[in-house]
Amino acid sequence: MDNVTLHFSNHSLLCYNLPMTADELREKYISFFVSKGHVQIQGKSLLPDNDPTVLFTTAGMHPLVPYLLGEEHPAGNRLVNYQKCIRTGDIDSVGDTSHLTFFEMLGNWSLGDYFKEGAIEMSLEFLTSPEWLGIPFEKLGVTVFKGEGEVPRDDESAQVWKRLGIPENRIAYLPREDNWWGPAGSTGPCGPDSEMFYYVGDAPCGPDCKPGCSCGKWLEIWNDVFMQYNKNAEGAYEPLARKCVDTGMGIERTVTILNGKQSVYDTVIFEPIIRAIEAACSCRYGEDSEKDRSIRIIADHVRSASFILGDPKAVSPSNVGAGYVLRRLIRRAVRHGRKLTHGAAEWENGLFLSPIASVIVDQLKGPYPELEENRAFIIGDLDREEAKFLETLQKGEHEFEKLLPNLLKDPRRIMSGRLAFKLYDTYGFPIELTEELAREQGMQVNRGEFDEAFKKHQELSRLQSGQVFKGGLGDQGEMAVAYHTATHLLHKALRMILGEHVAQKGSNITAERMRFDFSHGAPMTPEEIKQAEDIVNEQIRRDLPVRMEVMSIDEAKAAGAIALFGEKYESKVKVYTIGNSPTDFFSKEVCGGPHLERTGGMGKFKIRKEQSSSAGVRRIRAVLE
Ligand code: SER
Repeated sequence: MDNVTLHFSNHSLLCYNLPMTADELREKYISFFVSKGHVQIQGKSLLPDNDPTVLFTTAGMHPLVPYLLGEEHPAGNRLVNYQKCIRTGDIDSVGDTSHLTFFEMLGNWSLGDYFKEGAIEMSLEFLTSPEWLGIPFEKLGVTVFKGEGEVPRDDESAQVWKRLGIPENRIAYLPREDNWWGPAGSTGPCGPDSEMFYYVGDAPCGPDCKPGCSCGKWLEIWNDVFMQYNKNAEGAYEPLARKCVDTGMGIERTVTILNGKQSVYDTVIFEPIIRAIEAACSCRYGEDSEKDRSIRIIADHVRSASFILGDPKAVSPSNVGAGYVLRRLIRRAVRHGRKLTHGAAEWENGLFLSPIASVIVDQLKGPYPELEENRAFIIGDLDREEAKFLETLQKGEHEFEKLLPNLLKDPRRIMSGRLAFKLYDTYGFPIELTEELAREQGMQVNRGEFDEAFKKHQELSRLQSGQVFKGGLGDQGEMAVAYHTATHLLHKALRMILGEHVAQKGSNITAERMRFDFSHGAPMTPEEIKQAEDIVNEQIRRDLPVRMEVMSIDEAKAAGAIALFGEKYESKVKVYTIGNSPTDFFSKEVCGGPHLERTGGMGKFKIRKEQSSSAGVRRIRAVLE
């Protein structure tokens, strides 16, 4: 801590940084809140009980929802803990310098005890007191809810921040999108939040530089949520009899910021893991951006996989639910390991994931003793899945060699995407590897053609298996199903507003939000966006029944159903009709389902963003509030 006081008294914000490890931050946080009368409770399993809406525990507050809703907690009404979490929504972004699937979250809770004033006072003391984090006031800024609809601006929180010394020009008032928290469902406890930010520049860029400033240098470190309302089935906000506080501080993120690092992968948290990957793959981090990306993917994915396998409620790699996510994480790590070692030859050294997992177990077995208890299981399952995947890869390579003489006859040196797809489809051989093998022979794969075949295949298997999730990761919980039904409403609304040329090009659904890609040549106007929202909300309000029938594709088309890849269906398809009767309906689509039984009660549909996705394709991000 001496460092801190020294820099602080020098007013040298430039070189300010806190040499803090994850263990230190975790311990400090818990001790601080215990000193304030909180009882430390155990973090829960990564695989939630009784919650069909998500595959993994996604936040510290997640296991506490029943208590936030009013149930008594046996440990009292002031609680503190750390919780392992996994979020797969951004899995495709893992590999950049900031995204993680696995992370730890610190949290303190008041179940009807202190509220805004107490929570903010303690947060600020922990952040700024030299005894705890010792962050200079000049480095801090906060946000509070600016008010929207029937919920007024959160002046109460702003007043407390000001009284404690945060100047008005470091308080940003932001809308619901930034400063509101509630559970994934459309009803339940919710309320405004107040977030704390750390400035990573030399000094704030101007008198009005506050969180949200275009300098982009305010980074969020902590979130105090004030559960103040219950959103009822009619969508009204009723004041809660017992107001609660839920706070969340991400350990990895906070350590990165406090250490003055640009990337979480540059912190002590990842250092030993990256050293292990370097040893296993004979490479060096920091020399080649493409390789660094692979190293980061392996580091993150092996961490997640180790925690899933080390959980008391562990699942094994499989083709469904959490087991499927686990399989994807492991296989993606293996694939990137191969990229680093340039293919098969070096793999005779043996399997590489489990030595990396051992390092992770050693590193985190203190706070998570279950990792040590399940070490053998973690290693065993990783080895088995890696070996199995390597076999797949070898088979694929063998098939590729057989194709080679013919491929080499093409003077253009192009391998057809359909052929690459066949390797994928029949042997599970990843396209990146086919491309790599082709490159070694001076050839190129027609990637566009592959992508097209892949998309059709995905759509088809979704229809056949009735899975909601596309792109492989998602869940089939209630909220995901509601989003799926909302997708149909939106699809139809867009065709009504923009024209019949609108066709679905893809979608991605989680329990928290939906993404919908569709063909259209121009950005939507604000009026068109509003119209689309209104049309969808109108159908939700009408509480229309949703019905499913099985028929041939020709019958489906004749009945007026939207079919995406018509010519691909040979046998029977499922048709979902949203509307009052088979002839008087709002939407009819060929789809695998599942869907809600009625459109009512799914929440209020809101488009968050409309943007370009690729040439001629627009992307909408939307939520059900
Ligand atoms: N639920 C809030 C979050 O996840 C605070 O814990 O940020």
